[in-house]
Amino acid sequence: MMIRGCATGAVVLTLLGVGAAIGDAQTGPPAPSVVLDSVAGRDNFERYCASCHGRGGRGDGPVASALRARPADLTTLARRNEGFQRESVRAYVTGADRNPDAHGSEAMPVWGPIFRGLDPSDLRTTQRIDNIVSFIESLQGPSTAASDLGSQLFRTHCATCHGPSGRGGGPMADQLRRMPPDLTQYTARNGGVFPSERVQRIIDGRDVPSHGDREMPVWGDAFQAVRGGTSEQAVKARIDAIVRYLAGIQERAASLDTLRPGHL
Ligand code: HEC
Ligand code: HEC
Repeated sequence: MMIRGCATGAVVLTLLGVGAAIGDAQTGPPAPSVVLDSVAGRDNFERYCASCHGRGGRGDGPVASALRARPADLTTLARRNEGFQRESVRAYVTGADRNPDAHGSEAMPVWGPIFRGLDPSDLRTTQRIDNIVSFIESLQGPSTAASDLGSQLFRTHCATCHGPSGRGGGPMADQLRRMPPDLTQYTARNGGVFPSERVQRIIDGRDVPSHGDREMPVWGDAFQAVRGGTSEQAVKARIDAIVRYLAGIQERAASLDTLRPGHL
């Protein structure tokens, strides 16, 4: 295990919300012995991951400095891997794809067996891990790489009206009664904060009262209808990816802090 010394180990255990299960210091990171009733992603991330990765996922949790391997910054996974690779993140977290000999690091607990040991329900364990992965996805900073999902969706569905740069004036723009607005000014107009939740709601459109003359498609419905129906989670993931893309193309860059949960 990569934690230096027993005293630090005890700190980690306390921060993980661990009761009695202080194992052999040579067998890997401590396994928490207390299961959280909630399977919500944020709750579980805060309980089981934030001590090392930090509440915002940036690798700056309270015990990070006591570890020999720095906990990864989980907010840059999408940027570092050409989009958020949900399946490989999941496999890494559960340990399905990890071979400690090959990677030479045992600092990151293998969560699959830990969660299964804590909660006998396979269904809840699967949900817990899926929700944690979704929460990590929600932490991703803006990404504008061409291969990024948000960028691809924007080119496919939005650029016809809003233009390839998001500034308006796409090829369909002059057939509309209203000019599609410039989407790169939110942060500038909003005191340096990108209003993620508002933009998300506008794009989704399903809970925005209809005035009957909206020219912008209701993307919550449109994405749901793709190929005969998509899950609500998939619809949300697409809209989130677009919102992250828009956050990334703002003319005035927002400070990264304002893009963390609560805002994003
Ligand atoms: C005891 C500290 C610790 C805890 C608790 C912890 N991690 Fe980690 N995690 C690490 C370290 C250290 C690394 C970097 C491992 C390496 O470099 O080999 C890491 C790496 C990762 C990575 C890989 C990131 C990348 O860059 O590919 C993911 C994903 C991850 N952790 C998710 C989680 C999740 C989800 C939880 C909670 C269920 C969690 N971690 C709890 C220490 C921790
Ligand atoms: C058919 C043309 C068209 C397409 C395609 C389109 N929009 Fe729009 N959009 C508009 C128009 C026009 C408006 C102005 C409001 C209205 O008339 O509905 C607008 C408004 C918006 C707004 C609100 C702007 C503000 O002033 O706050 C956002 C955000 C937005 N669009 C994002 C998107 C995204 C993201 C996509 C792709 C998923 C998209 N739009 C696709 C035409 C379009």
